[in-house]
Amino acid sequence: MKRHRSKRTGDNRQLTRNRVVFIVLVSLLTMSCKNTVKKNVETIPPVARDIHSWSNPAEVRVRHVNLDLEVVFEQQTIRGTAILTIQHVSQDAKHIVLDSRALQIDETEVSADGMKYREARFKIGKKDAILGAPLAIDIAPDTKFVRIRYSTDPTATALQWLTPAQTAGGMHPFLYTQSQAIHARSWIPLQDTPGVRVTYEAHIRVPKGLKAVMGATNCPNTADCRFYMDHPIPSYLIALAVGDLAYRPTGRRTGVWAEPSVVDAAAAEFSDMEKMLEAAEKLYGPYRWTHYDVLVLPPSFPFGGMENPRLTFATPTILAGDKSLVSLVAHELAHSWSGNLVTNATWSDFWLNEGYTVYIERRILEELYGRPREEMEAALGYQDLENELKIHPEADQILHVDLSGRDPDDGATQIPYEKGALLLRQIEETFGREKLDAYLRDYFDHFAFRSITTAESLAYLREHLFAQDPQLSAKIPLDEWVFQPGLPVSAPKPGSDAFTVIDSEIGDWMKGKKIETSAWSTQEWLHFLRGLPQRLDFSHMRRLDSQYHLTDLGNDEILDQWLLMAVKNRYDPAYPRLEEFLTTVGRRKYVKPLYEAMSLQQAMAIYEKARPMYHPITQATIDTLMAGKH
Ligand code: BES
Ligand code: ZN
Repeated sequence: MKRHRSKRTGDNRQLTRNRVVFIVLVSLLTMSCKNTVKKNVETIPPVARDIHSWSNPAEVRVRHVNLDLEVVFEQQTIRGTAILTIQHVSQDAKHIVLDSRALQIDETEVSADGMKYREARFKIGKKDAILGAPLAIDIAPDTKFVRIRYSTDPTATALQWLTPAQTAGGMHPFLYTQSQAIHARSWIPLQDTPGVRVTYEAHIRVPKGLKAVMGATNCPNTADCRFYMDHPIPSYLIALAVGDLAYRPTGRRTGVWAEPSVVDAAAAEFSDMEKMLEAAEKLYGPYRWTHYDVLVLPPSFPFGGMENPRLTFATPTILAGDKSLVSLVAHELAHSWSGNLVTNATWSDFWLNEGYTVYIERRILEELYGRPREEMEAALGYQDLENELKIHPEADQILHVDLSGRDPDDGATQIPYEKGALLLRQIEETFGREKLDAYLRDYFDHFAFRSITTAESLAYLREHLFAQDPQLSAKIPLDEWVFQPGLPVSAPKPGSDAFTVIDSEIGDWMKGKKIETSAWSTQEWLHFLRGLPQRLDFSHMRRLDSQYHLTDLGNDEILDQWLLMAVKNRYDPAYPRLEEFLTTVGRRKYVKPLYEAMSLQQAMAIYEKARPMYHPITQATIDTLMAGKH
C-alpha cells in the first residue's frame, strides 16, 4: 500500500511536474499568441463608434477595396465585383458586417490568398430608412479577402444618371456619384463610416466614347484607366464620374475636367488654382495628394462642391466669368488638409471638417486676393450664421451635434461651417496668427491620414496650444463653443469696411438717389441685396431690375439672391427666369430657399417640371419640403 501510495504520489508528482510544464508552455504560447494579436491590434488604430453604420470595424476591418465595375446607362446600374481586403481585429469575428442600401447582392466569396475563393454565406438584415441594411458575410479566421458580386439599383442615392439632354453637350449620357455623407453604401458594399479608412483601386468599364474619372490617380491620355488611391481615405470620399469629358491643365499640379464645351471656360475661371495650392502649402504644410483637379459637373449637381481627393466635384454655377466665385475652389482645396487628411470620425464631428475648412478657405483667399476680400467673405458668412441660428432649434446649434435617429445630411447646416470657423477666428485673434498657424501645421502632421473625434481634437488643442498660455486660453470658452447652443458673448463679429460704405448707400438708394455700383464685386452686390428691406413694393423691385438688369444676370450667386427677393415680393416679371433657373440648376443651396418662399401652387407647378432633373438628394429635400407646405 505504502509503496503503492508512494508510487502514486511519485506519479502524481511527475504528473504535477508535467502539468506545470504543460501550463507554462501553454501560457507561453498564448502569451506569444496574445502578443502577435496585440501587435496586430496596435497596427490597427481604434475606431470610434458610429451610429450611422451597421459595420463591425472593431472586430474586422476593411483596409483596401478593389473594384471591377461596368456602368450600364440603359439599365441605370453599375455592376461587377468589389474585393475587400480585410484585417482581423478580434480573433473571433465570425462575419464581417458591411453597409448596403438597395444593392442587389448576387454572390459572396472568401479567400485566404486572393487566388482561391470559396462561396460564403451572406445575410441581408432588416432595412432601416436612414441607414439601409446590414450585409453580414461569413468569414473564417484565415479569411483575408471578401469578394462580392453585386449591382446597384436605379434608386441608388449616391448616383445621378443624366440623359444627354441634361448635359451641356446634349449628345452623351452622364453619371456621377456623391457619397458623402452615407451614400457610398448605395453603390459599393463597404464599412461606410468615416472612422474606417481604405486605399482603393478600380477598373471601370464604360460605353465607348465616354470617359471615367475618379477621386484617385486619373489618366487624361488613356481610354482604359486603372485608378489608384494609395492613401487611406474614408468611404465618403470614393467618387466616380462618367461622361464626355475633356481635360485642361491649369498648372504643374492642377487642372480641370469638364464636358468639351465647358472645359475652356472652366480652365480660365480656375486659372488661379496653382497659386491657391501654393498658398495653402505655405500655410499648412505639403499637399499630400500629388495632383489637384476640379471636375465641373452638369448643373443638377446638388452641392456647390465636393472635396473628392485629387478631384473636387463642382457645380457649373461658379463659372461667373470673372473668378468671383472661386472661394468654392479654395474651400474644396482646403479640405485636402481639413477633412481628407484629418477626418471627422463620426458625423457628429462634422464641424471638424467644415469649420476648419471655412477658416482655411478664407486664409487662402486672403493670400491671393487680400484682406478686404477675406473680410467681405467672413462678413457674409457671419450673416448666414446669424440667420441659421434664428431658424434652428438649440440642439442643432451645438457644434458636436446629436444626430441620433437622423440622417447625417440633416446636420449639414451653416452652423458647423460658420460657427466652427468663428471659433478658429477667435483662437487666431487671441493667440495670434503665428501661433495658430504653427499649431495647425503640427495638427495636420500629427493626425495625418487619421479620423478623429471632437474629444481628441479638443484634447490636442488644449495640450498643444492652450497649455502654452493659460491666461489667453481663459478668454476662449472652448466647451461653450463646442457643446452649447448659440454663440459665446466673446465671439468675434467679422465686419468689412466696404460693407459699411454699402450700408449707408442702401439708405440713399431707398430714398431714390442714384448710387455708384460700377466697381462693385460680387460680394458687394450680395451685401447690398441682402441689406435691402425684406419687403419691397413693386416699384422698388422694378427700379432695381431696370437699373441693374438683375433678371438677366449671368452670375448665379447674385441671381439666386435676386430671385429670392422676387419670390418674396411677388415680382412676377422675374418668374420666367425663376422657372428657367429652377428647371436647370439643382444646387440645393439655391433651390431649397426658393421653393420655401414660393406659394404652394407656384412651387408645385415648377417642381413638377423640375423634379426629374434633380439629384436624388435634392429630390428628397424638396419632397419633404413640399409635404410640409401649405
Ligand atoms: N463636403 C461638403 C459637401 C457636403 C457636405 C456634401 C455634407 C454632403 C454632406 C463640401 O465641402 C461643401 O461644404 N460644399 C459647399 C460649398 C462650400 C463653398 C461651403 C456647398 O456645396 O454648398
Ligand atoms: Zn466643405
